[in-house]
Amino acid sequence: MDVALTFNVKPENNTFSQSLSSHLKASRMNSNKISVDTFAEWDTWETINAVKSALEVYHNVTLIEADLFAFEKLRDSNVDIVFNIAEGFLEVSREAQIPAILDMLNIPYSGSDPLTLSICLDKARTKEILSYNKIATPKFIITNSLDELNYINLKFPMMVKPNAEGSSKGIFTSSFVRDEEELKKEVSRIYNEYNQSVLVEEFLSGREFTVALIGNGSDVEVLPIVEINYKEFPEDFIPIYSYEAKWILDTKENPLDIYSCPAKISKSLEEKIKSICLKTFKVLNCRDWSRIDVRLDSKGEPNIIEVNPLPGILPDPNDNSCFPKAARTAGYTYEQMLNKVLYHAAKRNGLV
Ligand SMILES: Nc1ncnc2c1ncn2[C@@H]1O[C@H](COP(=O)(O)OP(=O)(O)O)[C@@H](O)[C@H]1O
Ligand SMILES: [Mg+2]
Repeated sequence: MDVALTFNVKPENNTFSQSLSSHLKASRMNSNKISVDTFAEWDTWETINAVKSALEVYHNVTLIEADLFAFEKLRDSNVDIVFNIAEGFLEVSREAQIPAILDMLNIPYSGSDPLTLSICLDKARTKEILSYNKIATPKFIITNSLDELNYINLKFPMMVKPNAEGSSKGIFTSSFVRDEEELKKEVSRIYNEYNQSVLVEEFLSGREFTVALIGNGSDVEVLPIVEINYKEFPEDFIPIYSYEAKWILDTKENPLDIYSCPAKISKSLEEKIKSICLKTFKVLNCRDWSRIDVRLDSKGEPNIIEVNPLPGILPDPNDNSCFPKAARTAGYTYEQMLNKVLYHAAKRNGLV
């Protein structure tokens, strides 16, 4: 097939201002609002080139950057299908931008549709849908003001998170709050720094897992479950997968050995986790692939923390990227993993 790979590439730190590509030059955005952090979700050339090479094992692949000229480039591209890893630019529907354009142009693509991508970036909206479907998720409130905190009916400790970020943006050790004072401080911090609604959840102290899924309908494969072992953390560290944990404690040069895959769990817990993840994938209309974060509550029951319909896929095994890690444990190479995702997208669109 002729495949276009749509992507956003992270500006390099040292050439940051020059490398902001066509996005800023052509947009109305005030560049003062932009920081390196703005692009934390975007991919590096290492990942983009690895995805391209993987798909090239079977297909002709062209690269299309998801910039402000993406619409014209896609309209004129004449490809059979798009493999989409573009995280998009600005606001809660950012991951939906390229899929929405592709829907308009009637070009098939991999992954979930714009609605699912936008909903999953809105953690509270996702949790409402899960709750309606009786899928366990931590008790929560969504708030825009400190006054509302006087009436909340949740138990400490709690987690405070920006409602619509990913890649551990905004999640620090301070996001774990033990009392009202810490809660108010953290809600103000998130509100001021991220200028969006704040999600406050009861904290689940149990084991944490992340689960990769590939497929559609009755043909969804749950890859081996990854556990995040907080026992490997320094003792004074709060057991959360925070920005500090993801980007400071765990580096390529000094990798933290905090992941087990397959997770060492009983058959019955494994079945429960698989079942809640399959149900979540289904009720949110996820397509082709997703990675779902799960944590056990005080009774040992799995709860859904969040859903990532556009999972991170760093190619280097030293980078501790959970989706490729689960695929490797299943016996799939990086190439096989990505071509499976593309196969399911092509099949769904009647192309194979
Ligand atoms: N309610 C919660 N209870 C316990 N830990 C939580 C809770 N919410 C988030 N966490 C911790 O914070 C991490 C990041 O939260 P998550 O919502 O997955 O954000 P991100 O989108 O940045 O991955 C989780 O992996 C988990 O370790
Ligand atoms: Mg997460």
